[in-house]
Amino acid sequence: MIIDRDQPVLFVIFGATGDLNWRKINPALYNLYLDQWMPKTFAIYGIGRSRHTDEEMRDKLLEGVNTFSRSGKADANAWNEYAGKITYHSSDINNDKTYTDLGKYIESLKSKWQQDPVIIYYMAVSFEFFTVIAKQLNQHHLADDVKNHRLVVEKPFGNDLESAKSLNDLLCSLFEESQIYRIDHYLGKETVQNILAFRFANSILEPIWNRNYIQHVQISVTEQLGIGGRGGYYEQAGALRDMVQNHILQLLCLVAMETPINFQADEVRNRKVDVLRSMRPFRPEDIKKNAVRGQYLEGWIEGQKVPGYREEDQVDPHSNTETFAAIKFFIDNWRWDGVPFYVRTGKRLHQTASVISIQFRDVPHMVFPDAAIDNWRQNRLIISIQPEMSIRLQVQAKRPGLEMVLNTVDLVFNYDGTYGQETPEAYETLLLDTMEGDQTLYMRGDQVEAAWQILMPILQSWESKKSIDFPNYSANTWGPEIAEALIAQDGFHWFSLSSSSQTPK
Ligand code: BG6
Repeated sequence: MIIDRDQPVLFVIFGATGDLNWRKINPALYNLYLDQWMPKTFAIYGIGRSRHTDEEMRDKLLEGVNTFSRSGKADANAWNEYAGKITYHSSDINNDKTYTDLGKYIESLKSKWQQDPVIIYYMAVSFEFFTVIAKQLNQHHLADDVKNHRLVVEKPFGNDLESAKSLNDLLCSLFEESQIYRIDHYLGKETVQNILAFRFANSILEPIWNRNYIQHVQISVTEQLGIGGRGGYYEQAGALRDMVQNHILQLLCLVAMETPINFQADEVRNRKVDVLRSMRPFRPEDIKKNAVRGQYLEGWIEGQKVPGYREEDQVDPHSNTETFAAIKFFIDNWRWDGVPFYVRTGKRLHQTASVISIQFRDVPHMVFPDAAIDNWRQNRLIISIQPEMSIRLQVQAKRPGLEMVLNTVDLVFNYDGTYGQETPEAYETLLLDTMEGDQTLYMRGDQVEAAWQILMPILQSWESKKSIDFPNYSANTWGPEIAEALIAQDGFHWFSLSSSSQTPK
């Protein structure tokens, strides 16, 4: 869908002084403006607790653009034009007056613009404030227009199945599902969207995309950073809630889903929710065998000493929160029966990388002598989401020479080499989609609940049983040894992320 450039848009950002607006939302809106994706008429209305004038707010946001924008430092003219659309309102989101003021502002815009705008209410605040904002918007009739009024709800969507359900119940009692945009920024990443294109726009893949040809799948989302200043949040979250419940399960759905009939939002989301519903539930006895957790110790990263998790700000010195998780899932359907999906994620690991590795079965009969196959590896498809953006198919080839010696080589599609242009940030794609009213890359309520449902047994078990070996991995490693054992017990090993960008010799 192409945005109707004549219909004005108003962005109302709750939590405007927060980190998310500073680093992600505002730089994304600015880049959309630079690249002429914004409608002709728009305004941005920031709401936050701290006191700032419009000018102070704009200066702060400019600093964010200069630091984080993919297009580098802001262009002075473009920034001034764009910043002129931003106003800031210091108010308490619990307070009625905040919403009566907002209502008056909307009315004034309508009479100035002589048109009803699309209004996007972006909740860039913590989970506990979603309810109060939603209720107030409803009571003040600020989101009554089902076609034009939309709410963007940031993650985490709930803290467990029960809280996600009650938030869904509340939102769905006040608004239509078509107005609710539950964000998972991974779905906006260029390489993640390309998984759909790669799978469903190429006829050669479908015949081999199943248990007959695929031996196992690995999804690794590793980060070198620690928890930074987010100790308060992370203590309540941990790796399972922070990364697995959303980003990783969404990646898994894209790899495992059936072919949609078309690219309509609900059709794609139906196929994804089918995957979540086919995932094998964890029985208590499976958890020990198929799910492992870790917590980082201090260490050295790039010559800098970094603290252990328990020494971080706002973290309990005896914390039981996991900063690493590795899990083996099964999807009990015809396509995937018996194929393990191994996922892992963690903070303070050796390298930052998000990679999906699909390992194919071995050839049924080896025709080459041992001497020819020194370097033999099963075929592997490696979808690298970040920082490298590429798809590699590892195949065997004959090494040039008089002897028959086989070697593993990569057939590579690399974004930089092929397109050589800056790809948009996930938030740009997602914010544009909200303006266009396209929910394909957003989570539907039932998806979020199905994802919580899968993880609840592990969450409950880990919370009720304190880990006796925490902290169990040093910063700058690949996580605890038990994560190696999880996959080694099946005769596999984790795909080496350090080598993902190199063609093996
Ligand atoms: C967020 C998590 O959702 O995703 C963070 O809360 C994590 O803990 C981040 O660091 C990772 O996102 P990206 O885009 O940097 O891979």
